[in-house]
Amino acid sequence: TILVLDFGSQTSHLILRRLRAIGVFAELLPCTTKIADLTWKPKGIVFSGGPASVYDEGSPHVDPAVFDLGVPILYGCQEIAWRINSTNVARGEAREYGHADVTITKVNSNVDRLFAGLGDEIPVFMSHYDKLVSLPTDFVVIGATKNSEYASIAHKEKPIFGVQFHPELEHTPRGTDILRNFSVDVCGAQPNWKMGDFAELEIARIRELVGERALVLGAVSGGVDSTVGAALMREAIGDRFKAILVDTGCMRLNECEAVKVNLGKHLGINLTVVEAGELFMSRLAGVSDPEKKRKIIGSTFIDLFEQEAIRIEKEAENTPNSGKVEFFLQGTLYPDVIESLSFRGPSATIKTHHNVGGLPERMMNGQGLRLIEPLRLLFKDEVRAIGRKLGIHESLVNRHPFPGPGIAIRILGDVTKERVEIARKADHIFISKIKEAGLYDKISQAFAGLDTNRSVGVFGDQRVWGYIIILRAVGTKDFMSADVFDFDNAFLKDVSRTICNQVEGVARVVYDLTSKPPGTIELE
Ligand code: XMP
Repeated sequence: TILVLDFGSQTSHLILRRLRAIGVFAELLPCTTKIADLTWKPKGIVFSGGPASVYDEGSPHVDPAVFDLGVPILYGCQEIAWRINSTNVARGEAREYGHADVTITKVNSNVDRLFAGLGDEIPVFMSHYDKLVSLPTDFVVIGATKNSEYASIAHKEKPIFGVQFHPELEHTPRGTDILRNFSVDVCGAQPNWKMGDFAELEIARIRELVGERALVLGAVSGGVDSTVGAALMREAIGDRFKAILVDTGCMRLNECEAVKVNLGKHLGINLTVVEAGELFMSRLAGVSDPEKKRKIIGSTFIDLFEQEAIRIEKEAENTPNSGKVEFFLQGTLYPDVIESLSFRGPSATIKTHHNVGGLPERMMNGQGLRLIEPLRLLFKDEVRAIGRKLGIHESLVNRHPFPGPGIAIRILGDVTKERVEIARKADHIFISKIKEAGLYDKISQAFAGLDTNRSVGVFGDQRVWGYIIILRAVGTKDFMSADVFDFDNAFLKDVSRTICNQVEGVARVVYDLTSKPPGTIELE
C-alpha cells in the first residue's frame, strides 16, 4: 500500500485513483496523521498538493516521523524543502498555473528512476504560488521549467523526490507513468490490486471482524451503495446480517416494493421494512430549515434503528443465530471519508450528510455499536464494479444515487404529504422520459424537486395558483463537482407538458442550470 498524505488539494483523491488504475493500492489520510497511529507500514508516501502556503502560520505539516520511516517519498517540493530549511521556499513573483514543459536532467541511475522512459521533456500541469528558491542540502535538480529552476528535485542518495507539478491531473499526460515509476519501481509496490480481489478480501475481513456470534444491523435504501454493502455482509455472515429499510414516506415511487424484490428475493438478504411515513411527516411538520430537516430525519432514523436493534436481539433469542447486535453497517464511500477527514475540518459541513454525520455517534455511544464500512475505500464506479461481480442486476448497479433523507431534501420548504406526492409523481415522469429517450446512463443523477413558492398559471379559462417543479440533471464523475446535463429543448418541453398535464396542482416546470459548485446536486 502507498500512503497518500492529504494537504487538502481538490485533486488529492485523483492521486489514489491513478495509483489504483495501475493496480497499486493506496490509502489517503490527512497530512497531519501521526505515523505512530498507523497499523500498517506503507511502501511509499506521496504528499498531495494543498491550498496552504508552507510558511503560513497554522499551515499543516507532516509528522517528522514520516522521514524516519525510510520509505520513498514523492511530491510537495515545498514541504520537503521547508522541513529541511524553511528559507528554501519563497512566494513566487508570478503564480505558475497551467501548462509547462519540464526539461529533465539525468543525474544517476538512482535518481533517474522517477522519469525513466519519459524522454527529455515532459508536458505538465503546474499549480503553485510558492516556489523553491534554493536547493536543500543533498538534493539535486532533476527537472526545470522556464519559471522554476527547481521544478523537480531529488535527494542524492535517499529515495526522496519532489515535483512542483501535479502528476495526478489529466493535463499531465505522462503523470500515470511517473506515479508508476515511483510506486512500482522505486517503492517496490506490486501492481496487482484488482476490484475482484477486493470483494473477497473484504468478505474475509468482515467475517473476522464480526466473529462467530454478533449480529449486524444495516440500513438499506434501494441505492447501489447500500445494496452492495448489504450483499457483501450477506456473503460474509449470512442471516446474521439484518437489513432495515425505513419507509420515510419520502421514497421514490414504488421504491419499497422494488427493494423487497431486489434485496429480499434476488439477493436473499434478511430484510425488514419499517413503515414510518407518518412518524417522519409528524416530526417534519412546519420545519423548513434544510439543516433542521436533515437533523430531524437523521435522529428519527436512529430512533428507529435503536428500536429495531432491540427487536432483532429478542427475535434471535433461542435460535441458532442468537447474539447481540454489535455492529452497524454504513455505506460510506471514499469521497465521504475524504471530506470528513480533511485536516481543515470537514468540507462536508456544507451539508449534514447524515451517512457521515450524527447517525453513527449516537449509535456508537448510546448503544455501544461499532461501525462497519465495507465500502469506505471505494469510489462510486468501484462500488458499481463490485456490485456487478456480486451478481447485482445492471439496472440496480447503474442506478442514480438517492439520498437517505429522500424527497424531503428535494422539496424546498415544508414537507407535507401533498408536496411529497407531487414531487414524487413529477420525478417518476421525468425519470421515465429520460429512460425512454435512452439518456439514463448518460446522466449521473436526475430528479424532480419542488419549489417553496407557488406560481400563477392558466388552465383552460381558469387562473390557478400552482406548484413549481424544478428539474435537475447533472453529469459528474465523483459527485464532488458536477455539470448540468444538456437536454434537447424539445425533450424538456415534452417533460414539462407531461408533468403539467398529469400531476394535478403543478402550474410550472423549470430546469435548474446551476453547476456544482456553486449549487449542490440536491436542492437542500
Ligand atoms: P450534494 O447535494 O451535496 O450531493 O451535491 C452529493 C451527492 O450526495 C448525495 N447526498 C446524500 N446522500 N444522505 C445520502 O445518503 C444525504 O443526506 C445526502 N445528501 C446528499 C446526493 O444525492 C448526491 O449524489
